[in-house]
Amino acid sequence: MKIRLSTLGLLLLGGATQAQAQAAPDAAASAPPPYTVQDGYKVDTETMKGFRAWRAAACDRCHGANQEGMVGPSLVAALKTLTKEEFVKVVTNGRLEKGMQSFGNSPVVMNNMDQLYAYLKGRSDGAITRAKVEEIK
Ligand code: HEC
Repeated sequence: MKIRLSTLGLLLLGGATQAQAQAAPDAAASAPPPYTVQDGYKVDTETMKGFRAWRAAACDRCHGANQEGMVGPSLVAALKTLTKEEFVKVVTNGRLEKGMQSFGNSPVVMNNMDQLYAYLKGRSDGAITRAKVEEIK
């Protein structure tokens, strides 16, 4: 299932993904992950806040309930190459002409930007294996 989703994401993104992959810094691969996950779906408090922000902002309307892509691209695929800085920029400012809305005026997103990134990065890395997570007890 994991393989099928990421293959679909690559197909959807096409050439854009390849171009970004070449520009991806190698250093990012060795940095510690910004999330903690157990059993694929139990996450730390901060990552849980990221999931709640994802739900509250309804990013799934365009990116799909499993981040697999719909109107907007697969974020599972996108976060393999997008840097955190690029992520923050696109979520804050949007790409209005391309249909990505701006969340700069959304407190729930702006106050949970790191957490949102951590959650989505975990999904993209394949470490968080299902979209609906629970907090580690
Ligand atoms: C109204 C639809 C819509 C909503 C809601 C939406 N997005 Fe997007 N998003 C898009 C589209 C369309 C694109 C592709 C823009 C482009 O072609 O550059 C995009 C692009 C992105 C990208 C850049 C992907 C890349 O490969 O460069 C990120 C990251 C992203 N969205 C995150 C989010 C997050 C996080 C949320 C919720 C807080 C969200 N989006 C909500 C439509 C949406």
